[in-house]
Amino acid sequence: MHEEKIKRLYDLKRASESGGGEEKIAAQHAKGKLTARERIDLLMDPMTFVEIDKYVTHRGESEGQKYHGDGVITGFGRIGGRLVFAYVYDFTILGGSLGEMAGRKVVKLMEQALKVGAPLIGIIDSGGARIQEGVLSLDGYGDIFYHNTLASGSIPQITASIGPCAGGAVYSPAMTDFVIMVENVGQMFVTGPEVVKEVLSQDVSFEELGGARTHASKSGVAHFIAKNEFECMDEIKKLLSYIPQNNTEEPPLVEGIDDPNRIEPNLINILPENPYQQYDMKKIISSIVDTGEFLEVHELFAENIIVGFGRMNGRSVGIVANQPSYLAGALDINSSNKAARFIRFCDAYNIPIVTLVDTPGYLPGADQEHNGIIRHGSKLLYAYCEATVPKITCIVGKAYGGAYIAMGSKNLRSDINYAWPTAEIAVLGPEAAITIIHRKDLKQSPDASATKKKLAKEFRNKFANPYIAAEKGIIDVVIDPMETRPFIIRALESLINKRETRPPKKHGNINL
Ligand code: HXC
Repeated sequence: MHEEKIKRLYDLKRASESGGGEEKIAAQHAKGKLTARERIDLLMDPMTFVEIDKYVTHRGESEGQKYHGDGVITGFGRIGGRLVFAYVYDFTILGGSLGEMAGRKVVKLMEQALKVGAPLIGIIDSGGARIQEGVLSLDGYGDIFYHNTLASGSIPQITASIGPCAGGAVYSPAMTDFVIMVENVGQMFVTGPEVVKEVLSQDVSFEELGGARTHASKSGVAHFIAKNEFECMDEIKKLLSYIPQNNTEEPPLVEGIDDPNRIEPNLINILPENPYQQYDMKKIISSIVDTGEFLEVHELFAENIIVGFGRMNGRSVGIVANQPSYLAGALDINSSNKAARFIRFCDAYNIPIVTLVDTPGYLPGADQEHNGIIRHGSKLLYAYCEATVPKITCIVGKAYGGAYIAMGSKNLRSDINYAWPTAEIAVLGPEAAITIIHRKDLKQSPDASATKKKLAKEFRNKFANPYIAAEKGIIDVVIDPMETRPFIIRALESLINKRETRPPKKHGNINL
């Protein structure tokens, strides 16, 4: 009697675990993709995954064959010993499309993750709303979007696109904190190439329209790209190692991996003597973080600003830095959006922000103005002002005009502001300043070019340095570059118990 009941359980379990059946699994493998269950095995610590709603099927009134699980596997497990919740679409069942019950499964999981305060990971390989279930599928997506919003700022949400993500399957990922796409496999689009062809008579391939490279470099939808599924799962694990379980906790501490007092005598040599020469700010970042490890976010998007995670004496920090080797490190629309979103993530999850500055200003031009640099550029100001986590800024080179203010200046309530002796803090760069304040002198000069050079040199000596700001207390300490790491760590440690409040309100109205 008992035996029969146990046998029934195992029969059902087998049926559910076979997804859409052998043929569909073979087709999935033939496309170079792993199955949903293989993905879970790669993601979770062994023997920790508990699947829930394994036997859910779509309801009788829906058409088509019934499959246990209904196209999405949901459950909880551990990654590096830490609790996480995951929903993984199973493309072998009706193309991983989302019907009513699949939608309910995902929402139930989201509610559970929220209740216990653990990160939520979505792995998407889905044809979007299940056509046969009509409005009930749309209903499911609507509920998922609602819960993405409830979870936002409360528990970290990470999405991997490992297959098609069509229609409704793109908006939910976009509402999560980080999107990872697998190259040549992940594709995200609201309307596919056929619709584009029909409506606009444009020929565009899947990859060109919504592939990993497109979203990582052009649209900014993807924060990371991975070469394959194995790399994708490693990336998720690495990302999780920098972030806390939820907004009430601190990120994991990884102590004893690097000397907090380590000095770098060669750091100054990364900065060229000629301020117009390019250099790679990532070299400075890797010299100051623990063991040189830096997890860059949005590496291929808006490369004029660098954002990502590192550790300083074992504590996670979010680093925001201008990149002088791309657009001279000027701020533009995309870089403002990129940095503002990153700062808001760090602020939501108790991750201090370290800002490294070398920027000539906001990028000028009709293109930027017409596309809304005022609206988008101000988001960066807003994000820094709003953030109450510890904020430490170090100006290494140029810090001109509005970009000086935007990049974690004292007035935006940065806690500790350092500058290297090479910092140039002024309203305008010397050449631009001279052409404005000495217009008449230059007009009357017999050798305008020589006069301009001489005046610019005088201006640089007089104004383009950190000491005027230091005299006014706008820069707290002018430091020897080789001591940047110990100075940042000491500042971070002084801010561990930082408390800063803002006026009570429902929410601010960031200029979206
Ligand atoms: C039901 C679907 C499906 C869907 C795919 N399938 N998408 N079933 N509803 N949305 C099924 C197919 O019929 C097929 O079933 C199986 O999944 C595999 O699909 P293929 O087309 O054979 O696979 P492939 O060639 O890899 O192409 C994958 C695909 C394509 C690019 C995702 O299937 C596709 O374009 N699907 C439709 C995408 C779409 O328009 N979705 C609706 C979006 S509207 P069999 O039985 O033959 O194996 C939407 C609204 C929400 O989501 C908006 C919220 C804001």
